[in-house]
Amino acid sequence: MIYAVITFITRYDLLFLLKQSQKIITVFKKISFICNDKEIITEIHPATTLLDFLRKNLSLTGTKEGCREGDCGACTILVGELLGDEVVYKTMNSCLLPIGSVIGKHVVSIEGLNMEGLSPVQMAMVEEGGTQCGFCTPGFIISLSAYFLTHKTYNPEEAVESLDGNICRCTGHTAIKRAAARSVDFFNEHKGESLVSAGLLPPYFSDIPARLKTLAGQIHSNGGEDILPRYQVGGGTDLFVQKWEDLYRSDVGFINNKQHDQKITISGRECIINASATVTDIMNSDILLKYFPGIKSYFSLFGSLPIRNRATLGGNIVNASPIADMTNFFLALNSKILLVSANSMTSKKKNGSRGREVYLKDFYLGYKTLDKKPDEIIKSLSFKLPSPDSVFSYEKVSRRTYLDIASVNTSFFVEIKNNIINEIHISAGGVAPVPLYLIKTREFLLNKKIEPGIIAEAARIAVSESSPITDARGSVMYKKLLLRQLIFAHFLKLFPRMVNFEELI
Ligand SMILES: Cc1cc2nc3c(=O)[nH]c(=O)nc-3n(C[C@H](O)[C@H](O)[C@H](O)COP(=O)(O)OP(=O)(O)OC[C@H]3O[C@@H](n4cnc5c(N)ncnc54)[C@H](O)[C@@H]3O)c2cc1C
Ligand code: FES
Ligand code: FES
Repeated sequence: MIYAVITFITRYDLLFLLKQSQKIITVFKKISFICNDKEIITEIHPATTLLDFLRKNLSLTGTKEGCREGDCGACTILVGELLGDEVVYKTMNSCLLPIGSVIGKHVVSIEGLNMEGLSPVQMAMVEEGGTQCGFCTPGFIISLSAYFLTHKTYNPEEAVESLDGNICRCTGHTAIKRAAARSVDFFNEHKGESLVSAGLLPPYFSDIPARLKTLAGQIHSNGGEDILPRYQVGGGTDLFVQKWEDLYRSDVGFINNKQHDQKITISGRECIINASATVTDIMNSDILLKYFPGIKSYFSLFGSLPIRNRATLGGNIVNASPIADMTNFFLALNSKILLVSANSMTSKKKNGSRGREVYLKDFYLGYKTLDKKPDEIIKSLSFKLPSPDSVFSYEKVSRRTYLDIASVNTSFFVEIKNNIINEIHISAGGVAPVPLYLIKTREFLLNKKIEPGIIAEAARIAVSESSPITDARGSVMYKKLLLRQLIFAHFLKLFPRMVNFEELI
């Protein structure tokens, strides 16, 4: 196969490069990746979103722009990264995905799935009436095709779950669900066949692992300088909603987020999680699943699959939203974060500094004010592994179950010894200017027995520690009531034999 090599340097980029050359900061790297079956080399600004690059520079207009905020899924694409000899594909929202994040990867737009005839997934959508105006359809086809590409066994419920980031305004979703079920039937009947021979993927997919390996060998020499850029992008799911126009005019750097890095490890009695771990990494971690059997269901309430595939732990902590879900979870494990100078993380400027550790509960000084110097990056988070005597619970209430941020969320860790609370940590989100660690509630509950009167008093103290505001997610009264009920819910769920609801109110 002949690989077309396309080089794009737009007029805008040249102007931008000229402007940048007056500064000491070099933020440009030559960006090379494979898009569908073509190799791309470009020097476009690294914060350019894939959505814009595909549509404006490559004229691949099948990828649609809907909300530009990660909510609708019209812009969904696939991104594949080499892991050993295999390419691991994930769905991502191209409207929030900077091109600087896809260096050395395989980007697949809807055009990259096209063949002479329709694929079984495309055919199912047509035959079940799953498309009307067609605006959302490319996103649905990408997400559903990704389901078959990333699973070994197929069932209709899971196939529908993989569409949690796609919204259709015309069909009402029933026809799309039928198309998902029909596709599942098709691929179950063709088990054992490769996805190329079953007609899901065009033949060029077979060459992608070898082509990415070749590309990897060429990337190193393109590097920029190790200077702290104005913006440091993790997954970009907050930055590219809040500041995408500014990013496009600034110097940006990318926090390393490679698939092959071991993101979650155990060292002695501690679990250490790399700050670049995504929600997907965390909810699929065998280590975490062993200690928190509910973790998959907790984090399935976080955004949608394409958001979870990008959203990092470091970004969740530093964005400092009072309702941040991962922060809420790890606050209740009394986690510590390791902050290092960004310069010490680069290969050229290792200064030997090991960084400093801060308890997550002490990291938030006020609304979006952090105990963090401008050049500090969160390297990792760690927490003590829970003992067999401990249990954990997480609750999130939002206006709709999926793809919504919390009105109030709370996590709860408790260790019981001889029927007495030996250790306890409780977090509460959406009820203060910061992700809240309930310090007074903890102090009250330590060394107490679990009894209805104690729980009622603990809930009262928790509410007194909170200071919610009225906003789109609820009034002060509502949020305080929610917090009280959720504290009850933790106890009722974890200790059903020791307490019942009637005794609490
Ligand atoms: C549609 C949608 C749904 C969402 N749903 C949820 C949800 O249900 N729950 C929830 O909690 N959040 C949700 N979010 C918010 C967002 O996805 C999370 O906060 C995410 O964890 C941010 O991580 P990121 O890597 O994308 O951050 P980025 O946008 O890359 O960065 C955010 C900030 O953190 C900084 N940063 C990133 N990594 C580091 C690091 N290692 N060290 C220092 N600074 C760092 C960046 O410089 C930036 O200032 C949603 C967002 C969208 C768009
Ligand atoms: S345009 Fe709506 S999710 Fe990207
Ligand atoms: S077919 Fe029109 S938005 Fe889905």
